[in-house]
Amino acid sequence: MYLTTTITLVYHANLRIICFLELKIILTMQQWQGLLSIQTMSLSCLSLRNQNYMAMYSSIFGGITKDPSAMVIPIDDHMVHRGHGVFDTAAIMDGHLYELDQHLDRFLRSALMAKIPLLFDRSTIRSILIQTVSASNCTQGSLRYWLSVGPGDFQLSSSGCANPALYAVIESPSLQVPAGCKVVTSSIPIKSPQFAVMKSVNYLPNALTKVEGEENGAFTGIWLDDKGFVAEGSNMNVGFVTADKELLIPCFDKILSPHSKAGFDPG
Ligand SMILES: Cc1ncc(COP(=O)(O)O)c(C=O)c1O
Repeated sequence: MYLTTTITLVYHANLRIICFLELKIILTMQQWQGLLSIQTMSLSCLSLRNQNYMAMYSSIFGGITKDPSAMVIPIDDHMVHRGHGVFDTAAIMDGHLYELDQHLDRFLRSALMAKIPLLFDRSTIRSILIQTVSASNCTQGSLRYWLSVGPGDFQLSSSGCANPALYAVIESPSLQVPAGCKVVTSSIPIKSPQFAVMKSVNYLPNALTKVEGEENGAFTGIWLDDKGFVAEGSNMNVGFVTADKELLIPCFDKILSPHSKAGFDPG
């Protein structure tokens, strides 16, 4: 049996995407039911997650959405299946973006090191990030953003990726900052300096260090360098305040150079 129907690629009335497609297609009853169940699945998955994602920008659809069920990226994006992407985070505090410019500098440096071509210049990226925060109405939370070589295929080479991508998500509220915490030394090998100084999405060593810390009753794990000196935590830097009130921090030649001067920035 065939049904003629009009599908809009918009699932929610509150969707704020600028691009809006209408397709006239013919579906078998089975395909029609499949489509409905995918939509139901996507909505029920979201309701199971206790998250508050307030807005997303994607250069793939070329706009900002406030509908969490539309906050998706293509599975053939090389950031997804090859880890060919970089990211950064800026805290949103009392309606202000904390050290956005410094984080943006690190973001663009990482993109250069990862050979990700820039889709937009720095000031356009900055403006898109600010507009996404503004559209979200979020005053306390996190702005997370990614640059990817983009979608195209499932190859290793990025030569088939015609369009690099920029994504940004606003999450609220941000994680609670612990007043103090226990850490353990990680048994997961530290990244080599070439990869430790860039903020790529290859965070498996970081994730395993965090898991190992939690498995041992700690907040997270921290790495020592090849000489046994303290290097950095799974997603934060480490510093020591001496008895003379001096702040000692490791050199940044083998670790990610930080921009957050106070507390934790779970990037
Ligand atoms: C591995 C690693 N080191 C250090 C940091 C601290 O960087 P910042 O606080 O400047 O964002 C982060 C956080 O993003 C990180 O992931």
